[in-house]
Amino acid sequence: MEPIKVGLLGFGTVGSGTFTVLRRNQEEIKRRAGRGIEVARIAVRNPAKARAALDDDALFSLVTDNFDAVVDDPSIGIVAEMIGGTTIARDLVLRAIANGKHVVTANKALLAVHGTEIFEAAHAKGVMVAFEAAVAGGIPIIKALREGLTANRIQYIAGIINGTTNYILSEMRERGLDFATALKGAQELGYAEADPTFDIEGVDAAHKLTIMSAIAFGVPVQFERAYIEGISKLAAIDIKYAEDLGYRIKLLGIARRAERGIELRVHPTLIPAKRLLANVEGAMNAVVVHGDAVGSTLYYGKGAGAEPTASAVVADLVDVTRLHTADPEHRVPHLAFQPDSLSNTPILSIDEVTSGYYLRLRVADVTGVLAGITRILADSGISIDALLQKESEEVDGGDETDIVIITHETLEKNVNAAIREIEALSTVVSKVTKLRMEALN
Ligand code: NDP
Ligand code: HSE
Repeated sequence: MEPIKVGLLGFGTVGSGTFTVLRRNQEEIKRRAGRGIEVARIAVRNPAKARAALDDDALFSLVTDNFDAVVDDPSIGIVAEMIGGTTIARDLVLRAIANGKHVVTANKALLAVHGTEIFEAAHAKGVMVAFEAAVAGGIPIIKALREGLTANRIQYIAGIINGTTNYILSEMRERGLDFATALKGAQELGYAEADPTFDIEGVDAAHKLTIMSAIAFGVPVQFERAYIEGISKLAAIDIKYAEDLGYRIKLLGIARRAERGIELRVHPTLIPAKRLLANVEGAMNAVVVHGDAVGSTLYYGKGAGAEPTASAVVADLVDVTRLHTADPEHRVPHLAFQPDSLSNTPILSIDEVTSGYYLRLRVADVTGVLAGITRILADSGISIDALLQKESEEVDGGDETDIVIITHETLEKNVNAAIREIEALSTVVSKVTKLRMEALN
């Protein structure tokens, strides 16, 4: 059988990694897919740069700066979008779909923001949109959620799903690097997004979490409803105090089925140091999925970088090659649930979320200060799990000290109300730093 022809859009970290893996493993891939998978065109903004990355002059003719010519080429069966962003990528993906082409994409921003439009267009046209590389790099988490765990009612997903921030947190904690140096390292290694604020501010993790939540709970992709907090405001002192109390801080994405809706949130989170997730370091990602039948399952692997991500892109190319002649009604639905069976379960606002909390505040080191704070917490129905009061000499050499309080699980809006009261006390000399916690047991 003739090889299936693929058009690559974008030839940066992921695009060039995909090309390399496809070429290196072409024989094995062919045996798995049932026919060859051949890159027929590579569309890029800067052809000279792409040609410089190719090691064989004979391949230069594949490169073009005409993206439309690739998505309009009738001989191309699959378009692999590895540009990123939500503008040109959206236009090209919709145009490829309109032309009856299957699409493979690594672009989580695109699917989190425009997923509903793209999946509807693909459904109408009977083509596949495959996106394993969009979430957690090389870890086959989409496959696991869509297929392997399909018997389960998923209770929650909790994951380290951004390699850049996990790399930064690891480098700061293990090697004492400052934030900017650690970020530069992540950029040099090809982990960071074109705009690294997407990584640092938790947006990239929220894109991925939005996609996973849709598949896990059978709801539409609703990125605009996600609560997002990144690591840019995380203080080194909180990383240290957390360690003193037996916790590590990770940027976690959490999607949980709660009584009144679905929690969808990304924020720095204290995790007990003995949990596996707390020990995921560098650009590694890990996702815990808890299903009612299977219990907890854990997926671990490289979450970013050229070849780990290419592993997922190529897996999708093989899947599409295997299935493209199948009746569209008998393929796995894009979001695991049949498009007419999505539920309208609401995404909860962060006020309605339940969590344990880490609270740090600077106080005047005077008699009765602690009693005032604990009284407010007790009156708000918030129970204390642990409390740490630093020696004032350790903190500022005399008159002030830090108090760290760990609470049992409680409603976020109750904690916020208590914090407002605590900050109004004359003995409290700082804003309260609040971090959420997950026991993950
Ligand atoms: P790169 O920046 O390395 O590559 C992007 C490619 O797209 C380059 O060829 C670039 O051209 C081209 N491009 C960028 N903007 C435009 C534009 N406006 N018009 C035309 N071409 C453009 O990105 P990555 O390979 O890292 O990421 C690609 C996608 O994969 C993104 O959606 C990203 O989120 C996703 N992803 C990335 C991972 C990673 O580890 N890097 C992991 C998983 C997913 P030029 O080089 O000429 O600028
Ligand atoms: N910028 C992303 C990360 C790439 O650091 O995880 C992988 O999606």
